[in-house]
Amino acid sequence: MNEPLSPAQAPAGPPGAGTLHGRTVVLIGGGSGIGLRVAHQVIAAGARVVLGGRTRERLAAAAQELGDRATWRTVDTTDRSSLAAFFAELDSIDHLFTSAASYRVGPLRELSDEDAESPFVSKFWGQYHAVKYAAPKLTQDGSVVLMSGAAGARPPAAAPAYAACNAAIEGLGRGLAVELAPVRVNVVSPGTIDGNLWAHRPDEDREAAFAQYRRDTLLRRLGTEDEIAQTVLFLFTNGFTTGATLYPDGGYTLR
Ligand SMILES: NC(=O)c1ccc[n+]([C@@H]2O[C@H](COP(=O)([O-])OP(=O)(O)OC[C@H]3O[C@@H](n4cnc5c(N)ncnc54)[C@H](OP(=O)(O)O)[C@@H]3O)[C@@H](O)[C@H]2O)c1
Repeated sequence: MNEPLSPAQAPAGPPGAGTLHGRTVVLIGGGSGIGLRVAHQVIAAGARVVLGGRTRERLAAAAQELGDRATWRTVDTTDRSSLAAFFAELDSIDHLFTSAASYRVGPLRELSDEDAESPFVSKFWGQYHAVKYAAPKLTQDGSVVLMSGAAGARPPAAAPAYAACNAAIEGLGRGLAVELAPVRVNVVSPGTIDGNLWAHRPDEDREAAFAQYRRDTLLRRLGTEDEIAQTVLFLFTNGFTTGATLYPDGGYTLR
């Protein structure tokens, strides 16, 4: 039987992976919701953040809330020239999280073709192209976390294109992990979160969706933006995790 390796002989993990102190974290979608909670948590851990999004006022307010280790630039992930300009302004990047997306969800029989395609246009291709422009600047011990959604693993009744888009993002994460190694690429796939995204949907839709989620989930509750942010920080800092999808969803995908 082989002798166990002494700590000095054991292969080292990536040198900077375990800490966020002094690292540069780019958060496209960081002006609100889950991305903004990630910004708060990585700044508390000693990182610098660059926030991206389409709305200047939202980004400026978020950066002010975060303090002097936060900067921001506008970017639209559906516009490749905008992504190119955003990343051209940045030096090296340690971690990237892409919660930016806006799309419509609905049944096959009712959605227009344009609306049905919108999750792929914004959420899938938006993240794909963001990683493409970020890749040359990612440090070798850094990582990417893509945003998916538990609807990809357990589709709700009336959102087939949205479900397929989330499943595709999980496949994209595995494919990028293979191509970009040793840069790690992982996916976070949250359940329903009581946060900014749902706060801006009609009251009736929100209450119906929340009630159904409580019924359908092992833990009988919604998640919080901070719980999803914690999962993202785990994926940024765990140097041996790549190609993984984590489901912080209260057990929704098991029921
Ligand atoms: N909240 C949930 O229950 C939940 C559950 C599962 C998955 N998700 C996923 O989480 C993501 C949304 O995050 P969130 O819940 O934190 O919602 P959010 O607060 O609405 O965050 C989305 C952010 O992305 C920005 N954005 C939207 N489209 C953009 C674009 N084309 N280019 C650049 N920035 C863009 C928005 O700012 P601007 O409008 O100013 O650009 C906003 O700051 C979506 O991918 C969603 O599918 C959410």
